[in-house]
Amino acid sequence: MSFTSTKKGQFAYFDTQLGHPDWSGRTVLDFGGNVGVLLEEAAGRIQPSLYWCVDVARDAIEEGRRRRPEAHWVRYDRYNPQFNPAGIPGLALPDLGTRFDYVLAYSVFTHTPDDETVELVRALRSMLTDDGLLAFTFIAPGWAPRGEGQKSNVRWRLSSRSLGNTAEPPPVPAHLEPVVERAGKAPRCTVVDDTLLLDEHVPNGPCGRYDVLWSPDHTRSLFPAAEVRPPAAPERQHCCLLGPAD
Ligand SMILES: C[S@@+](CC[C@H](N)C(=O)[O-])C[C@H]1O[C@@H](n2cnc3c(N)ncnc32)[C@H](O)[C@@H]1O
Repeated sequence: MSFTSTKKGQFAYFDTQLGHPDWSGRTVLDFGGNVGVLLEEAAGRIQPSLYWCVDVARDAIEEGRRRRPEAHWVRYDRYNPQFNPAGIPGLALPDLGTRFDYVLAYSVFTHTPDDETVELVRALRSMLTDDGLLAFTFIAPGWAPRGEGQKSNVRWRLSSRSLGNTAEPPPVPAHLEPVVERAGKAPRCTVVDDTLLLDEHVPNGPCGRYDVLWSPDHTRSLFPAAEVRPPAAPERQHCCLLGPAD
């Protein structure tokens, strides 16, 4: 059984980050859109017939199709260490036969290795209309919501349960505090299962959790043309906006 998203707020998040556009008549690709919570939450503002969802999670795509048969559901059998460990490494994106006004990816490139993200972002940008926009989220390790005692994102990732695991995670052991502090200032870090990796080689084998965190500067260094926006409350994820080409 592949992962089924119960997260809410994705449509409101992108609607805010994109400046409340007129969605009517716009084609939308929800990349890594799982069961299509974005479409449900758009409540008619995105036309189902103009909505495409591409995801590596087979059951999620089937469930999305069952809920909204008039939309377009595409299973993409690419390997992902957490979400599709039996998939095909490096499989190219399928040709969807259309171009998109918006390509949106909520919490997808927070689970893919850097080189794959760069490759997929390039491919997704080539699917945009001439004035189209790609918007994807990323998690900045050192960012914390305003307010007393709020955890930084790296602490939040380390202290939240991995998918499918109902046990509460143990607190960060005292001897790991220095590395957690360093991660908060690092350009990037990865959490593989319960291990926080900064400069080390990141294993890419099947695992229960594969979380990638990028600072805004690291994101800009990978995508110099990007506009990077801070999280829109109540979310913790930054937004990276890109047009069709540099
Ligand atoms: C944390 S979930 C977010 C799901 C959805 N965007 C949402 O907000 O409800 C990450 C999603 O990305 C999908 N995913 C991971 N790697 C992918 C890839 N290379 N291509 C497409 N989807 C991918 C997963 O299967 C999963 O559905």
